[in-house]
Amino acid sequence: MPANSPFPYDFIWGAATASYQIEGAAHEEGRGESVWDRFSATPGKVRNGDSGEIACGFYHGYRDDIGLMKELGLDAFRFSIAWPRIVPAGRGAVNQAGLDFYDRLVDELLAQDLEPFATLFHWDTPQALEDAGGWPVRATAEAFREYAAVVVQRLGDRVRFWTTHNEPWVHAWIGHAWGEHAPGRTSEADAVAAAHHLLLSHGWAAEEIRREVPDAQVGITLNLSHAYPASDSPEDEAAAWRVDGEGNRWLLDPIFRGSYPADLLDRNELVAPLVEDGDLQAIAAPIDFLGVNYYFRFVVSGGTDGPQMERIANAQETDMGWEVYPDGLYQLLMRVTRDYAPPAIYVTENGAAFGDVRVHDGRVHDPERTAYIASHIEAVSRAVADGAAVRGYFVWSLLDNFEWAHGYSKRFGIVYIDYPTLERVPKDSFYWYRDYIASARQAPRPSSVA
Ligand code: FCB
Repeated sequence: MPANSPFPYDFIWGAATASYQIEGAAHEEGRGESVWDRFSATPGKVRNGDSGEIACGFYHGYRDDIGLMKELGLDAFRFSIAWPRIVPAGRGAVNQAGLDFYDRLVDELLAQDLEPFATLFHWDTPQALEDAGGWPVRATAEAFREYAAVVVQRLGDRVRFWTTHNEPWVHAWIGHAWGEHAPGRTSEADAVAAAHHLLLSHGWAAEEIRREVPDAQVGITLNLSHAYPASDSPEDEAAAWRVDGEGNRWLLDPIFRGSYPADLLDRNELVAPLVEDGDLQAIAAPIDFLGVNYYFRFVVSGGTDGPQMERIANAQETDMGWEVYPDGLYQLLMRVTRDYAPPAIYVTENGAAFGDVRVHDGRVHDPERTAYIASHIEAVSRAVADGAAVRGYFVWSLLDNFEWAHGYSKRFGIVYIDYPTLERVPKDSFYWYRDYIASARQAPRPSSVA
């Protein structure tokens, strides 16, 4: 380890983004419609009627943003590939211009010595597939496998780190049961079916990646929140276990154990008819890493209406209303290590929204975000010291961007975007992260020793 850093030399420092949130160019060069285009265009779904139509203009301005990554001293950039750019109708004809874009992006990252961490799906399903039944039907998993094969055939000679899905729980439940994300469905049965097909397609896509890229590092990213009982009463303990089952184990168990959690009987009833021979083997095929996205914890109490989420009085909260609780990340990393022993873990997202403003000196002073990131990196360092196989940390996000149903009203970036002009303004947290990364590497890295 470097003399003054709790992190090993080869620890990967990164920043994360997602296609729909940053690219814009929604109607350019053959891109098809996604469920997020349709959802954003539906009145009342996204705050202020915002959409990803222009977003941060990354599709055209990616070279300059890679310049910012260099200035930060990042090792890696996490981005996602927009399925409707590659297969605009979801199945069938491939759009070469879409592949060309990611080809140029990957080449520029590599030219600047940045490791591309590609995610195949960050929620922008082609609308044509939604019209044909969407993730609740099995055919969408088959379509995803075809799409994955096309992408790895093109990029697999240069991209080593592949994430199949980002946060299948969020896409399944918030998009299919709660109706707050695209595609805006409101059926628990649809959510359970969508989650199963997302997991199944993860397993199938992993097979495609391994076939094409022998030295690939393949993983999946989950949103995980450690669930704390509000007290040590048996009711609260049971409620916390239930929330852990619904939010964490429902995904972790199939991936690492090849079975759905036996205690979630109502969900098991919904999923059982969908599970075909071989599905759980495909889902549980070994992965190389688990991606963990962490923002907050759950504090849960039991009650006659089922588990209740408690809000902690006087806790610091972000602009999302999420409690700032860094030790929850430590506990989570240790728990995942103890119960599932992933060969490697990357914290693929962690960060905070605050109401940033650009002040008279032209800069953006965001001490709360810096404190948030610093305290969570410290939590990661404790987990590393205690034996968790964490190999990297990605801040969410490089840029302010389209925060789903909140539109542009929530700013997560370490770089401020002036949306009318798309000007980039690095925030104070950007300079803090740059200096932190540099200090974490005070000793020479192995590659520069030889
Ligand atoms: C995660 C998403 C990411 C971003 C952050 C704030 O759930 O993966 O796209 O919206 O939350």
